[in-house]
Amino acid sequence: MPQPKPLLLLTISLCLSVSLSPCTLATASYSGKPLVTAVTKDPATSLYTSPLKDSRPLVLDLSGPLIWSTCERSHPTLECHHHECAHAHSFHPPNCPHSGYGVADEEDRFRCKCTAHPYNPFTGKSARGDLTRVRLSANATDGKNPLYPVSFSAVASCAPASLLAKLPAGAAGVAGLANTRLALPAQVARTQKVSKKFVLCLPRTGDGVAIFGGGPFFLLSPSQLGDLTSTLTYTQFLIKKNNPAYHLPVKGIAVNKAQVQFPGHALANGGIVLGTRVPYTELRSDVYRPLVDAFDKALGRDDAKVPAVAPFELCYDSNKLGPTRIGFLVPDIVLMLEGGKNWTFSGSNSMVDVDNFRKACFAFVEMKAEKGGYGGAPAVVIGGFQMENHVLQFDLEKQQLGFAKLLFFTSCGNFNFTRSL
Ligand SMILES: *[C@@H]1O[C@H](CO)[C@@H](O)[C@H](O)[C@H]1NC(C)=O
Ligand SMILES: *[C@@H]1O[C@H](CO)[C@@H](O)[C@H](O)[C@H]1NC(C)=O
Ligand SMILES: *[C@@H]1O[C@H](CO)[C@@H](O)[C@H](O)[C@H]1NC(C)=O
Repeated sequence: MPQPKPLLLLTISLCLSVSLSPCTLATASYSGKPLVTAVTKDPATSLYTSPLKDSRPLVLDLSGPLIWSTCERSHPTLECHHHECAHAHSFHPPNCPHSGYGVADEEDRFRCKCTAHPYNPFTGKSARGDLTRVRLSANATDGKNPLYPVSFSAVASCAPASLLAKLPAGAAGVAGLANTRLALPAQVARTQKVSKKFVLCLPRTGDGVAIFGGGPFFLLSPSQLGDLTSTLTYTQFLIKKNNPAYHLPVKGIAVNKAQVQFPGHALANGGIVLGTRVPYTELRSDVYRPLVDAFDKALGRDDAKVPAVAPFELCYDSNKLGPTRIGFLVPDIVLMLEGGKNWTFSGSNSMVDVDNFRKACFAFVEMKAEKGGYGGAPAVVIGGFQMENHVLQFDLEKQQLGFAKLLFFTSCGNFNFTRSL
């Protein structure tokens, strides 16, 4: 093949003559289009789903290392020595017996058929299923509208129907969004030739949006906000061995600008994880108690307190607290991240309406002891309610999280899902 060589030489000489930066730009430019999908909050479970599999929803799991779903009786299987089989075994679910990479194929017993361990994080159950290929679908996007439908093949694990227990009705499985080779973001990046990034905008109501492949990202709003990925604050992820979840380097938590005192190294011990598996932020008891007490004190509204509604501990009479259009005016909860970056949760992400809007409760809850997941219990799991109506960009190439709270006049439900021609 003599043909490509002159071209290559030409490219090299062009690059050399135009300095280095155009070359690095050229290698980092991706030829494909990002994919957009709607994200819906299931009212019964508070889990978020996207219609990725033949329009059937898959549950989005930020900490999930795999995609899994139920399979047809006849489906392709990958062999044990396939490199994807090794990747499927990189993270082992908790409390799941090790059983090797695969089993003998029923049809050809000289063939070793790769099996994976799909895990239902909501029930804590795992199973064994064939590693297969499934077709997923979404729409290409320019960041403003869907452009045209796209269907692509992804490596996924089969799972028995019993593993769907406690998932939203109609869900066909789980789409892991962790930073692993077999999670959805990396598979979209490989098949669509887009960058290994995704934007998540979780809705409180209506259809939120996820864009795989980076930005830009626009929402409809009365004022022109432009590309929302250009407004983000960035913080590095902490990489943990044997744990695919997104960990943040937290220095402290402040309530109304006063840093909360925790016993020992409570925050550092386990750290902070982002998790769509829990509806409200969960705090380990050694972190929960000081935070709740600090909030209660800083708010200082014993006069407005009403009997609590489980799982919450602090509830107030909504009328006495005075809701505003930007949420209740209550003390800010500030996650103080490495590098002086602050992630602030104000009333709209810290107080939840309960009892038909009669009560407003502090939406942080105490972690149940058995919640382990991959690796020991984190100090804090930032739950769905706290992440809603934020633009979150997970950049798996730079290993960083970009975050910004949406302004009150727009919401994650304002993506324009009308296809533009
Ligand atoms: C693609 O976009 C169209 C128009 O919004 C929508 O009807 C369709 O459901 C989308 N397809 C997928 C797979 O999300
Ligand atoms: C972050 O929050 C803390 C506590 O409220 C505050 O002391 C600090 O000045 C904030 N940093 C920035 C950069 O806003
Ligand atoms: C949504 O997008 C469509 C297609 O580009 C456009 O015609 C329509 O005006 C947009 N809707 C709004 C409210 O801007």
